[in-house]
Amino acid sequence: MKFAHKGPRKANGQNVVCRHKGRTDSVQDDQALSRILRSSKLYIMFKKLIAAGLLGSMGLANPLPGSEKVLTNPVIYEDYPDIDVFRVGDVFYYSSSSFAFSPGAPVLKSYDLVNWTPVSHSVPRLDFGDEYDIANETDRAYVKGIWASGMRYRESDDKFYWMGCVQSTGKTYVYTSPGHGALEKNGEVQDWEWSRAGVIDKCYYDNGIFFDEDDKLYVSYGNRELYVVELDNDFSEVRSEMIYDSGEDIYLEGSHFYKAKGYYWVVPTQVASGEWALRSKDPFGPYDHRVFWNGLQGPLSNAGYAHQGGMVDLPNGDWWFVAFMDAYPAGRMPVVAPIEWDADDWPSIKLDSNGHWGVNYPMPISTHRKVPSMVGKDKFKGPKLDENWEWNHNPDNEAWEFRKGGGLVLRTASVTEDFFSARNSLTRRAVGPHAQATFEIDIRNMKDGDRAGAAFFRAQAAYIGIHKTGDDARLVMVDGLQLNATSSWQTASNGTIQAEGPSVSGDKVFLRIDADITPAFGLSPVREALFSYSNDGKTWTQLGPAYLLSNSWQFFSAFRYTAFNFATKELGGSVTLESFSVEVLE
Ligand SMILES: *[C@@H]1O[C@H](CO)[C@@H](O)[C@H](O)[C@H]1NC(C)=O
Ligand SMILES: *[C@@H]1O[C@H](CO)[C@@H](O)[C@H](O)[C@H]1NC(C)=O
Ligand SMILES: *[C@@H]1O[C@H](CO)[C@@H](O)[C@H](O)[C@H]1NC(C)=O
Repeated sequence: MKFAHKGPRKANGQNVVCRHKGRTDSVQDDQALSRILRSSKLYIMFKKLIAAGLLGSMGLANPLPGSEKVLTNPVIYEDYPDIDVFRVGDVFYYSSSSFAFSPGAPVLKSYDLVNWTPVSHSVPRLDFGDEYDIANETDRAYVKGIWASGMRYRESDDKFYWMGCVQSTGKTYVYTSPGHGALEKNGEVQDWEWSRAGVIDKCYYDNGIFFDEDDKLYVSYGNRELYVVELDNDFSEVRSEMIYDSGEDIYLEGSHFYKAKGYYWVVPTQVASGEWALRSKDPFGPYDHRVFWNGLQGPLSNAGYAHQGGMVDLPNGDWWFVAFMDAYPAGRMPVVAPIEWDADDWPSIKLDSNGHWGVNYPMPISTHRKVPSMVGKDKFKGPKLDENWEWNHNPDNEAWEFRKGGGLVLRTASVTEDFFSARNSLTRRAVGPHAQATFEIDIRNMKDGDRAGAAFFRAQAAYIGIHKTGDDARLVMVDGLQLNATSSWQTASNGTIQAEGPSVSGDKVFLRIDADITPAFGLSPVREALFSYSNDGKTWTQLGPAYLLSNSWQFFSAFRYTAFNFATKELGGSVTLESFSVEVLE
């Protein structure tokens, strides 16, 4: 169908990256310096020098990184792209894309726009066809599913709305969750209960939704040709207008819809380098437009330009932008910046003293309220999975459960030799810049032919795990697993055993992925993951060679820590993931 091509769009992205590589070295050096400083003991020394006023002559930008009153971009060192952001009371919400991972469309929460944690998913299950359940080895939904979409709170019925086009069906789906008095509770929501509220037989590609003061629902959507539609309460179109056609040379998409400064605003990205702002006194136009920013340097080295996301107002009336940067192998990570308005009320990004999108800004909001950390240990106490987790495609819910007292039982759910066709692989986004993920797994109930372990997974993958043959539970490191980007993500390789370790004699094994996902976009792959095992969680042995991390963008989703268990002979076996922990290394 018309919109089913990300190819040309991201071809632009590639050009941008090439241009990016031509940036001046001094910019790159400054950013590399700040990154190194942030992640090392040198940093403490650096802070002391700053305190002593000894670094002033180096021209390093204020405010000082590391202070509690200062934020550092990216604000989440994980792959949470296609951002829509809004505020209810004192709480900021952030909706993100998730492709074929299930549940879909994660919702994150923050009190300060900087510290975020996932609290829900707007799409409980990807009910868009058998391919989302991994129907078989050729019918899967990789890269399909949840793309850029819109989410907002409607005061009149105290409900949260999420709307997204699923390109594999060509339809737009609406999901809602009651707010349970969110507005009276200053934005807080205790129980999210998302369910499907409507299906529109049309693709509102990359949409933004907006409830006006008179409660009318407007949706902006489209690529190149941007539209605004008004929908009634049954999501039928009341009126639809094309408000702008950017022509062939400029690719606009990913718009969101706002009201600010007495105007309606449609704010799309110029792929993949900037953002535009279109405004009108009437939702259907005519719209004036300006470039919000384009080709703005910073704040990450070896990444694309900040683009596509959304703006949000603070309770004090200030506006901020939350965009993302193509920063593989880390993925597409959010960066924030304050918005400035000129005398005619056109917005721009507040630049740092170098004229760049800053690495650091003063915190938008000073608050003691905290959201739970996105790193740490999960002992799978149930009754629900932590919202950091998403299954690879829809899970077979008959094949997993919480063990009494803690631990996640993963029964084999597929008989296959193909890791990418195995159901019930449980994933969460890799954490950067450099982190260590540890899986504690009880393997006593594995059956002959079963394969279980810890994968570092995107369209390219590697794992450390157990291959069970007869009674022998053999440690292996497998790499080279690959999906083929040019044949609809069919499996190109089931991988190669790179190293065999000892057989595990006990019931339990600890597996570890140590990965540096610092952005290296536009470079040949340089970042690595190391795999190791332990019998006691204390003494570790590396297995196999370092695994080089792909920087390619075509799969969109970045690497994920993945617990898997599948059968190659017959179903019936299981493993128990007793705990998972991830910690950022200094
Ligand atoms: C795979 O599943 C799809 C949909 O369920 C079906 O149409 C197709 O025939 C299946 N292919 C194979 C090889 O089994
Ligand atoms: C991967 O394994 C499956 C069997 O489960 C097989 O059908 C497929 O051909 C293999 N793919 C490749 C590329 O070897
Ligand atoms: C990927 O698919 C293309 C098109 O079908 C094919 O030409 C190519 O050989 C495949 N690559 C791999 C690594 O299997």
